[in-house]
Amino acid sequence: MPRFDVTVAGELNLDLILYGLPDELPPERELIAERMMLTLGSSSAILAHNLAALGRRVGFISRIGDDHLGQIALDRLGAGGVDVSKVRRTTGVPKTGLTVILQRERWRNMVTYAGTIFELNFEDLDLGYLADSRHFHLSSFYLQRGLQNRVAELFQKLKAAGLSISLDTNDDPDDRWQGGLTDVLRHVDVFLPNEREARKIAGTEDLQTALARLAKLVPVVVVKLGAEGAMAQRGSERFTSPAVKVNAVDAVGAGDSFDAGFLSQYVCGADLPACLTMGNLAGALSTTRSGGTEAFRDHQYREQFFRENLARRGK
Ligand SMILES: Nc1ncnc2c1ncn2[C@@H]1O[C@H](COP(=O)(O)OP(=O)(O)OP(=O)(O)O)[C@@H](O)[C@H]1O
Ligand SMILES: [Mg+2]
Repeated sequence: MPRFDVTVAGELNLDLILYGLPDELPPERELIAERMMLTLGSSSAILAHNLAALGRRVGFISRIGDDHLGQIALDRLGAGGVDVSKVRRTTGVPKTGLTVILQRERWRNMVTYAGTIFELNFEDLDLGYLADSRHFHLSSFYLQRGLQNRVAELFQKLKAAGLSISLDTNDDPDDRWQGGLTDVLRHVDVFLPNEREARKIAGTEDLQTALARLAKLVPVVVVKLGAEGAMAQRGSERFTSPAVKVNAVDAVGAGDSFDAGFLSQYVCGADLPACLTMGNLAGALSTTRSGGTEAFRDHQYREQFFRENLARRGK
């Protein structure tokens, strides 16, 4: 039996979230935020953390800087039960990445200092470690600048070792959606974009057309639809799964939490509707507390949320 259920290579950093700011930010003024949260950020780390919280064995490779913020992120991920023995710390510049999120009532600004995020490269990866798993996941394709041109090769090697592969590109800061993505998708078993990403990548404004096009490239496409839940296509079969009704604090990391919920079932061989249900539950749970992992690391709160919402679905 392999050592891990899921291995992940990607970014590890904190999110600094500020709440209660005015919509307009006039220059040269002292603006007051009502509330703040410094919490584990980055798509890859949130996904890894929450998969471990859901009981899966997770191994993680990353690069952080020699600084306090990197240490806090590393400690948080390790405390969540993820194996962090392969996270490399580099000295000097650049420092560990950081994302600052200005959370408004219905939208947010996100600013990322990439730091070591752009530095992770193919040579940092211990392929034996990554391959000692049932599944490999890659997030934030367009932030993995040091790795991007070898992602197809990485996927090919891990597939040859018998792993299944999932990908969540997240946003492309350049909004170009290139970087050899078509080659990369050839090796992907589960592709997990949100609605905007699916339309951009498929090159169409129409979601249905996007889903149909992407389903020709990968065996399973899952499109996250925020408060509308999720849709999936496998071959010519379509699936929809409604969101769980919650009072959302913010949607930071909701997509990564969805991925974690979905994959927690996928790696156990669950059928697609069950994977989608768990994805929506995990995504919804994440929105009920600040950031992407706060709701998951409160064991009692998390278990009660799943118990109550699964019971509600059963009725
Ligand atoms: N307001 C909400 N109520 C209930 N569930 C939600 C809400 N917002 C998000 N979710 C859940 O989280 C999932 C992912 O949300 P979303 O579509 O925002 O992903 P994303 O854009 O990839 O997010 P991220 O910014 O984390 O990358 C949704 O499919 C849904 O299951
Ligand atoms: Mg996303």
